[in-house]
Amino acid sequence: MLFRSWEQAPQARWPDVAPVADHVGVEHLLVTRHALVRQVLTDPGTYRPDNALDAVTPMPVAALRVLAAHRFRLPPTLANNGGASHPEIRALVADALHPTRVAAQRDWLAALVRRRVADLSVRLDAGEPVDLHAELAADLPLLVLARLVELPDAPVAAVKGFARAALELFWAPLDADRQQTLATEVGLFHQLLRDFAATGGGLAGSLRAAGHSPDVLVGALFFLLVAGQETTSQFLTLLMHRLTGEPAILAGLRNGSVAVADVVEEGLRLEPPIVTWRRIAAVDTTLGGTPVAAGTSVVLWLARAGRDPVTVDSPDEFRPGQRGSRRHLAFGAGVHRCVGDQLARMEAATVVAEVAPLLAGVRVVRPPRCPDNLTFRMPDAFVVRR
Ligand code: HEM
Repeated sequence: MLFRSWEQAPQARWPDVAPVADHVGVEHLLVTRHALVRQVLTDPGTYRPDNALDAVTPMPVAALRVLAAHRFRLPPTLANNGGASHPEIRALVADALHPTRVAAQRDWLAALVRRRVADLSVRLDAGEPVDLHAELAADLPLLVLARLVELPDAPVAAVKGFARAALELFWAPLDADRQQTLATEVGLFHQLLRDFAATGGGLAGSLRAAGHSPDVLVGALFFLLVAGQETTSQFLTLLMHRLTGEPAILAGLRNGSVAVADVVEEGLRLEPPIVTWRRIAAVDTTLGGTPVAAGTSVVLWLARAGRDPVTVDSPDEFRPGQRGSRRHLAFGAGVHRCVGDQLARMEAATVVAEVAPLLAGVRVVRPPRCPDNLTFRMPDAFVVRR
C-alpha cells in the first residue's frame, strides 16, 4: 500500500505527519490523516501541484538524452499545473467527460462486458484458468476513453505498454539501465502523440481551437492517456480481487441487498489504485503542528486517509454503505480533484454488476502482484478457476 522501503520502516504506528527519506535519500513529508490530507489538497496557495509528475528516481543524463531526442516535454497542463492556464484546460477536458457523455457510453460498455463475461464463464466451466486482468479489465477503460475523447488510432497494447512504462519511469525506484529502456518507450509514444496533436479531432481539436500550443496539447493528452485509463483498469482488477474474498458482498449483489454503487465507493476507499499523491510547499508553514519548510515535497497517503478511523466506522472492513464509506480521497480534492471520477465510477459499476455472478463461483489461482511504486499499484495477472 506504500513505497516498500517506507512500509518496512520501523514505525509501528504512523504519526499524523512523518518525515521519510526515499530510496535516493530525498526527504518527503508523509501525511497520513484524512483531515490533513484534505487540508493540503484544498489549499493550492500553500501547497502547489508542481511536483505531481516529477520523477522520484532522478533521471541520469543518458535517459534525459533519450527523452530530449524524442522532443519529450511535460509542461504544466492538468495535475501539475498551478498556473493561470489550468482552469481552461481542465474545463475542456471536463466537457469531453461530461456526465451525459459518460452515461451515453454505459449500454455499449455493459454489452461488451456481458459478452466477455459470458465467454470467460464458458472457459471456466470447461476447467480452464482465466486471467481477469488481461482478459476483462485491462483494456476496457481505454476503449471507452477512445470513444469519449477521440484518441489516436494506436493499438491498445501499445498504449497500455506506454502508460505502464510512464508510471514506472516517473514513480518507481529504478536503476539507470531500466530508466533508459523506459525513456525510449515513453519517448517514442510522445512522438506519436505529437503527430496526433497536430491533426487529431475531439479533445485535441478543442485544445487547438482554444489556442493552446502543441506542447500543451501533447502534455494534456499524455497525462490523459495514462490517468484516464490505466488508473481505472488497475482499480477494476484490485476490486475484482477484493470481491473474491468477500462472499457475503457477492451474495448481496446477486440478491439485490447490496447496491453496486456502494460496492464501488467502498472499493475506492479500501483498494484505491493511486495510493499517494504529491504537492510541494510554496511557503514556510505548519501542518498538524509540524513545521513545513517552503520547497518540501509533501506525500499525501490517500489510501491511508481512506482508512482513518475518525471518518469511517469500520476502517479495514469492506462494508458497502457504512458511515464514512464515501468520504475517501481516492480522487483527490480541491481544484485538481479528478475530472474523470464519474467515468471511473460508471466503468466500475458496470463491471461489478456484470461480473459479480462469475466471481461468486471462482477460486483465486494467482492473486495480482503489485511492483514497488510510490503512487500506482499496477496489479498484473489475476488468475482464477472455477
Ligand atoms: C479509479 C480511477 C481513478 C482514480 C483513483 C483517479 C485518481 C486521481 C487523483 C488522485 C488525481 C489527483 C487529484 C488531486 O490532485 O487532488 C486525479 C487527477 C486527474 N484525473 Fe483521475 N483518477 C481515476 C480515473 C480517471 C479517469 C477515468 C480520468 C479521465 C478519463 C481521469 C482524469 C484525471 C485528470 C485529467 C486529472 C487532473 C485534474 C486536474 O488537475 O485538474 N482520472 N485522478
